[in-house]
Amino acid sequence: MTIQNDLLLRKLAREQTSRPPIWFMRQAGRYLPDYQVLKAKYDFFTRVQTPELVAEITNMPVYQIGVDAAILFSDILVIPQGLGMEVQMVPGKGPVLPNPIASAADVDKLSLEACAEFLTYATPCIQATLDDLNGRVPLIGFCGSPWTLLCYMVEGSGSKNFAKAKAFCLNHPEASAKLLDVVTEACIAFLKQQVAAGVSVVQVFDSWGGILSPDHYAKWSLPYITRINAALKEEVFTILYAKDGWFALKDFAALNPSAIGLTWTMNREVAEAQCGSDMVFQGKLDPSILHSSPAEVKRETLALIKEFEGLHHIVNLGHGIHPNIPVDHVRAFVDTVKSYSF
Ligand code: CP3
Repeated sequence: MTIQNDLLLRKLAREQTSRPPIWFMRQAGRYLPDYQVLKAKYDFFTRVQTPELVAEITNMPVYQIGVDAAILFSDILVIPQGLGMEVQMVPGKGPVLPNPIASAADVDKLSLEACAEFLTYATPCIQATLDDLNGRVPLIGFCGSPWTLLCYMVEGSGSKNFAKAKAFCLNHPEASAKLLDVVTEACIAFLKQQVAAGVSVVQVFDSWGGILSPDHYAKWSLPYITRINAALKEEVFTILYAKDGWFALKDFAALNPSAIGLTWTMNREVAEAQCGSDMVFQGKLDPSILHSSPAEVKRETLALIKEFEGLHHIVNLGHGIHPNIPVDHVRAFVDTVKSYSF
């Protein structure tokens, strides 16, 4: 199907465009009142596994806010779930994995076959979403990075410093390497499934990449993201994002992904010095700015566009949108970009 608004795809192909494309991380769910209605009615994994609900939630920000791309409503933790771990979404607390990985024997229990079988539900979800989108904008698929998934699988929940996850890698080097390997294979298979179902772009979220030292990043995260990017890049546009992972920028650029996601703790100077002037950069408005006022959001958004003028740039937040942002502040962000012309 031809895509009517293909601005994101043209930018990922490094074409000149009359304005930057815009979408933002965690745009599906969270701040939209219509999402809250569905959230009150259906539990999280029912929302993730039901084609009509996935289509409605995924496309809500396209219809209601006018972003240039949709991102599949799902979660990075569907992979640990598919591999055989229990995952609960506890209101007010976030994800909880009640039986976290603690030993090599726990790693051996994970099953790639079970994961592929479990995740078959995603194909009709993607198809329903694409049918409903009817070619308006491209659909983005995603997975978590193996390191970020290890964090939740070992820690059993979110954490400030993921000390348990780091300790597992330090004290069980073989088991942790095997865990990262299995998760990498599951990520590749799931992304290929998403591509076969029709997503045009995939993003790898290394949300906890920035808590590693550069040395640990080189051991526990980069090699696995390298494999995922290599397995997908001939088939689909790839976006690599490591929150706060300034030290990963140069290595990401060497993998030649379609784009690299930036955090607000980075700037153009650092990005360009590390990745060169030909790279496509995505980001990086501080999501906290959306708490200010529509006028301030507009000012900051224009400053961001100016910062990256002359480079290939996709406007996005530097991390996911916060849950309690007023919708008119989100509109100020999106409308500022959409009414801009170079
Ligand atoms: O971008 C989108 O809106 C698409 C859907 C999406 C969700 N999670 C839905 C969700 C995406 C892309 C994710 C990615 C995700 N999930 C990441 C990487 C991005 C990031 O923010 O760093 C991570 C680390 C997770 C793990 C996770 N899932 C956490 C920490 C939480 C709880 C807190 C929260 O709201 O993010 C979740 C639950 C979750 N995933 C919700 C949603 C809409 C909230 C629960 C609900 O609405 O019932």
